Amino acid sequence: MSNFNISKKVVATIVLLSFFSCFLQSKLEHDAIEFSIPSMVFEKENFATNKRIELGKKLFFDPIFSIDSSMSCASCHIPEFAFSDTQKFSPGVFGREGVRNTPSLMNVGFHPYYLREGSVPTIEMQALIPIQEKNEFAHNIVEISKKIQKIESYVDLSEQAYNRKPDHYVITRALGVFQRTLISNSSKFDLYLKEKVKFTKQEKKGMRLFFGKAACNNCHSGFNFTNYKLTNNGLYEDYKDEGRMRATKDSNDLSVFKTPSLKNIAITGPYMHDGSFDDLEQVIIHYNSGGKNHLNKDKLIKPLGLNKAEMQSLISFLNTLTDIKLNKNLERQ
Ligand code: HEC
Ligand code: HEC
Repeated sequence: MSNFNISKKVVATIVLLSFFSCFLQSKLEHDAIEFSIPSMVFEKENFATNKRIELGKKLFFDPIFSIDSSMSCASCHIPEFAFSDTQKFSPGVFGREGVRNTPSLMNVGFHPYYLREGSVPTIEMQALIPIQEKNEFAHNIVEISKKIQKIESYVDLSEQAYNRKPDHYVITRALGVFQRTLISNSSKFDLYLKEKVKFTKQEKKGMRLFFGKAACNNCHSGFNFTNYKLTNNGLYEDYKDEGRMRATKDSNDLSVFKTPSLKNIAITGPYMHDGSFDDLEQVIIHYNSGGKNHLNKDKLIKPLGLNKAEMQSLISFLNTLTDIKLNKNLERQ
């Protein structure tokens, strides 16, 4: 009798387990579609050509942009760290401290709007911001264009790429084209979806939590692990940074930020708009607590009830999002 009971239990468990694994399998198959690489929107007239990419890359790494010729875009967007910085705030010219943490530029061409508050509509327009910001390059595009037009190699390349001299139009367009080539789709997770690698037990457990109990994919979803939602994830009751309200002056936007991508997250710390978390453990502890009571805190941010082992598994999963091919063909100029 008791034997029969045990075997009934075993059968029931097996049935239950296979049901869940089928469920997860089909969920992931569904997600594989969701995770396929989306098409990239190019600004009209600014399609990519090899010459345009070459010019944009040369500009990106050129310290000619800063008023004292000391720093380039790559001084803050460092290729080795998925084009982010390892410091809380990247210093600009003359060591002037910045006010926000430098975001990664991997997959940046897919963003529907730019800056942490999403206030700039195109990647071309975005380039003008660091140029004139006093704690970044503290320069201006007209002066930079004049300097660049004195360099023969730039003039030649610009003629070949855009059929005109390197003026503000060419500079912002070429930088945009280059940044759109920064595509990250070779993480362990991407390969797992293509069934080219296997996950460890812990990574699988973390993946289930991410898409299940912890529901991180409510905001960090799809190919780039973000739906670009502008929201507040409850870091403080009282933020120093006004977030999106800086641009809209609408109190519903107070301390609202664009949901960042989690691709390459293991190497893009410190985290959040102000670089206030040094590591992923601190990030997970924050989400597990349900966050602070900010008036604009998203309803989806609430206590998760994860135990220590679950938190570790979630981190193992996040570590699978690092691109293994990163920088293979992006050596510094
Ligand atoms: C002094 C450091 C610094 C320099 C130099 C710098 N950036 Fe940035 N970059 C930042 C910071 C900080 C942000 C976030 C700003 C914000 O949200 O207000 C940012 C944001 C961006 C974004 C928007 C990313 C997103 O997720 O919306 C792009 C694109 C970008 N920078 C490209 C460039 C380019 C191109 C250059 C060179 C022309 C450059 N940056 C120079 C620090 C820097
Ligand atoms: C309601 C939407 C939402 C949910 C749900 C959510 N996040 Fe976020 N996440 C955000 C926003 C918004 C930010 C940026 C906040 C800031 O910069 O102040 C962010 C930032 C992060 C960052 C820092 C990224 C960086 O580059 O600095 C990590 C890591 C992160 N989230 C992981 C997670 C994990 C893991 C979960 C699930 C436990 C999760 N998030 C759930 C919206 C969300």
